[in-house]
Amino acid sequence: MLKKITTVASVVLLSALTACGSGGGGASTGSSGDTITMGFAQVGAESGWRTANTKSVQDEAKAAGIDLKFSDAQQKQENQIKAIRSYIQQKVSVIAFSPVVETGWDTVLLEAKRANIPVILTDRSIDSDDTSLYKTFLGSDFVEEGRKAGDWMVANATGPTNVVELQGTTGAAPAIDRKKGFEEKIASKPDIKVVASQSGDFTRSGGKQVMEAFLKSQPKIDVVYAHNDDMGLGAIEAIKAAGKVPGKDIKIITVDAVKDGMQALANGEINFIVECNPLLGKQLMDLAKKVVAGEDVPARVVTEEGTFTQEQAKAALPTRQY
Ligand code: AHR
Repeated sequence: MLKKITTVASVVLLSALTACGSGGGGASTGSSGDTITMGFAQVGAESGWRTANTKSVQDEAKAAGIDLKFSDAQQKQENQIKAIRSYIQQKVSVIAFSPVVETGWDTVLLEAKRANIPVILTDRSIDSDDTSLYKTFLGSDFVEEGRKAGDWMVANATGPTNVVELQGTTGAAPAIDRKKGFEEKIASKPDIKVVASQSGDFTRSGGKQVMEAFLKSQPKIDVVYAHNDDMGLGAIEAIKAAGKVPGKDIKIITVDAVKDGMQALANGEINFIVECNPLLGKQLMDLAKKVVAGEDVPARVVTEEGTFTQEQAKAALPTRQY
């Protein structure tokens, strides 16, 4: 079974990289009306957020007349590195990617720099001392998202509160930062304790599996803090299967605000969602045009986002795009 999954995964990656090769062509500078080619190395398809982000990038590349070469790394850093190397070989005009994890990028980004191909970080950043390896970072402030979740927790805790945390992918910027921001805020209330914390890899199945284990090992769980909606939705399934009522017996805080999460919030099964906006495509294409033209861009572009209560989710759902 495992072998079969691995084979399927390899075929998907290979076809993604082959697709990158189609259209070939040399580097274009964009300075003389040439078509800009962008190599985009996506994390994977792990969540509703990611699906919306991919669609935004693909739609906006088309609208901007940018030739997009897209690859899906299936949440593996080595696949993203392979994709980036393939884009360098193809001499694309610009490389954009959302790093699966924070560390381990210097070598491949140095290769891009030596090939004179500008790099844009989108959604997630990297942990490197060498900021010359990329032109700009477009995405959310994940620490701030964690703080917003922590603020809600502090405001809504009545007495001793046991929290279990479903972390995102180990080593990924949003997992590290959302944990940090949340901890920063709850530190002011020693009554609130994170009694268990484990990665559910940002997936629904991961969230369900980890929550099942928490329900067995933890005698008292008051709140689930899930680093994304998908893991929160998986936790809901586990809570129901254990005969408890999500949103009431166990309160749930998540991050993202994708449609399925918002629906669960409106239904009363989630209690609070911190928004993380996946619609980065338009800003990404605008930045790409500028860096390819050699124009200055800000080193950091922060996405604007809010939070949702159950009442706010009911009001927002009819016009929610993703
Ligand atoms: O990097 C953004 C995060 O990645 C989203 O919050 C999560 O759903 C996704 O997998």
